[in-house]
Amino acid sequence: MLDKVKELHQEIEQYTINSPEQLEQFRMRFISRKGVITELFEGLKSVPQADRRAVGQELNGLKNLAQERFDSFSQLVNEQQSSARSVAPVDLTLPTIPNLTGTQHPLTLVRQRIIQIFERIGFNVADGPEIESDWYNFGALNFPDNHPARDMQDTFFVEKANADTDASSDMLLRTHTSNVQIRLMERQKPGTAFRPIRSIMPGRVYRNETISARAHCMFHQVEGLYIDRNVGFKDLKDTLYHFVKEMFEPGTRIRFRPSYFPFTEPSAEIDISCQICGGKGCNICKHTGWVEIAGSGMVDPQVIANCGIDPEEYTGFAFGMGIERITQLKYVVNDLRLYTENDVRFLRQFEGL
Ligand code: PHE
Repeated sequence: MLDKVKELHQEIEQYTINSPEQLEQFRMRFISRKGVITELFEGLKSVPQADRRAVGQELNGLKNLAQERFDSFSQLVNEQQSSARSVAPVDLTLPTIPNLTGTQHPLTLVRQRIIQIFERIGFNVADGPEIESDWYNFGALNFPDNHPARDMQDTFFVEKANADTDASSDMLLRTHTSNVQIRLMERQKPGTAFRPIRSIMPGRVYRNETISARAHCMFHQVEGLYIDRNVGFKDLKDTLYHFVKEMFEPGTRIRFRPSYFPFTEPSAEIDISCQICGGKGCNICKHTGWVEIAGSGMVDPQVIANCGIDPEEYTGFAFGMGIERITQLKYVVNDLRLYTENDVRFLRQFEGL
């Protein structure tokens, strides 16, 4: 009996209570008439007469301790409860809590603006897969198997699930949005009337680059494609002049610089006068006064033929630009990494645009 009393004594000493539920548990175990202490008092009858007095004293001590503890625990729990309840009175005249739902990402804003400009002159929006076969990303676009242009764009190749039987994968993360050109042209149904293609194709592209202020392994492009009878270089120039006029500051100058792409002939790169220094020369334009914004050209007849369209009858132009690049020039973002770091100090600056 005395051992049991000692044991309970210890248990009570070590008890901690943090909630009304625990307080109730304590009450049930030690205080209530069905609790362990009442039970011990009942057992007192069977203690030999000689010891009864001493044991009784011990039991009373235990009972008092339990009651004392219970009183102070209840006080504590009461205090906790009432401080949780006593919130400051509501002042209905205070201004509302500002709505802090984020902002649109600058790349989203610029992509939407690009789409808007082209939609207004009759382009629709198309897209295609980011995991692509070598054929759609390179082959159909006239990159011969061992052409150095394939190295020019260091590519992420994707392993096939059955890599054991098929060691050299021809699946890759697309390096440009030009794969969608091919897919759009292929979609023409042979034997039915040709439906002119006038589309822009925004999307994510991947290149095997080390991430730095000037390069990233993932970025965004918008490709454009116009295929129909009698589409000429003049149309390409008109379209891109219009785009630059709409997108950039008034007075921005534009120039076409001869260039090379395997899938266009002739090809040109498009430069605009530097938005930062107005063409006087600064470190953004490397002191030339010009910055490149896009690649373009007349779609190579071979590429048109690769898609099953008669290049004698149909011609067209294509162009491709980087959304990060356009955003950089428009909003003077000098580090590509800012786009993916999710720093609200950067993102908030585009609020309200
Ligand atoms: N695909 C080219 C690139 O990524 C850009 C381009 C598109 C050039 C269409 C000409 C025509 O660099």
